[in-house]
Amino acid sequence: MPILEARAVSKAYGGFLALDNVNLTVEPGEIRALIGPNGAGKSTLIDVLSGRARGHAGQVFFQDAEITPLAPWARRLKGLARSFQKTSIFPALSVRAQLELAARKAEAGGDVGETLAEFGLEGVAERPAGAIGYGDQRRLDLALALTGRPSLLLLDEPAAGLSFEESMKLAKALREMANRRGVTVLLVEHDMEVVFAIADTITVLQLGKVLAEGPPAQVRADPRVVQAYLGSAA
Ligand SMILES: Nc1ncnc2c1ncn2[C@@H]1O[C@H](COP(=O)(O)OP(=O)(O)O)[C@@H](O)[C@H]1O
Ligand SMILES: [Mg+2]
Repeated sequence: MPILEARAVSKAYGGFLALDNVNLTVEPGEIRALIGPNGAGKSTLIDVLSGRARGHAGQVFFQDAEITPLAPWARRLKGLARSFQKTSIFPALSVRAQLELAARKAEAGGDVGETLAEFGLEGVAERPAGAIGYGDQRRLDLALALTGRPSLLLLDEPAAGLSFEESMKLAKALREMANRRGVTVLLVEHDMEVVFAIADTITVLQLGKVLAEGPPAQVRADPRVVQAYLGSAA
């Protein structure tokens, strides 16, 4: 039984179809990567799933219930979370205080100390979040998204702007967190090495349509996928 399902989702901006009859099912516990050339519709799909994009066609189901009409906050209460943007970090508050504040807002218990350890943030826990390194900020973002113990996390390029080394560190933290907590993850990521390091399944979008889907080795060998990437580079 899928934890998340999009059925025949289409989304137009003016006359332009950013998503064209997309069907997607995500199984509980998996890390699903959503990849595709720039403009393929990846962020639009994340927006549809999280409830941010209004006025689309098709339906979204989460844990067997239709959530299509629900606002983002209502989806979050059900356990479908998306990452905060970097701007959600209050720069003057300490890393620990931010996590405590988020946990209180979500009325979630949970051990902030444990979360700090999980994301390698113990060493910077007492520092103002605005003063920590960018890689630490990205991991704090992830930790914040996880307050309230969501069962599914939507992440749109969580490693954007990070060095390769930092991206891999974030991917590893994400993989371990998902295994430990049993959280399902759907993430958009452009670095293929990062994708192949953590994804159980890959969905490839191109021009608003699902071009290919399957385990990493299969997707990597798919001539249509190779063509789509070469096409976008040309
Ligand atoms: N708010 C918007 N208004 C008009 N066009 C948009 C808007 N958001 C996205 N688009 C267009 O929809 C297409 C898909 O965008 P997006 O989902 O951001 O792609 P991706 O995340 O895969 O790069 C692009 O052609 C983009 O220009
Ligand atoms: Mg995008």
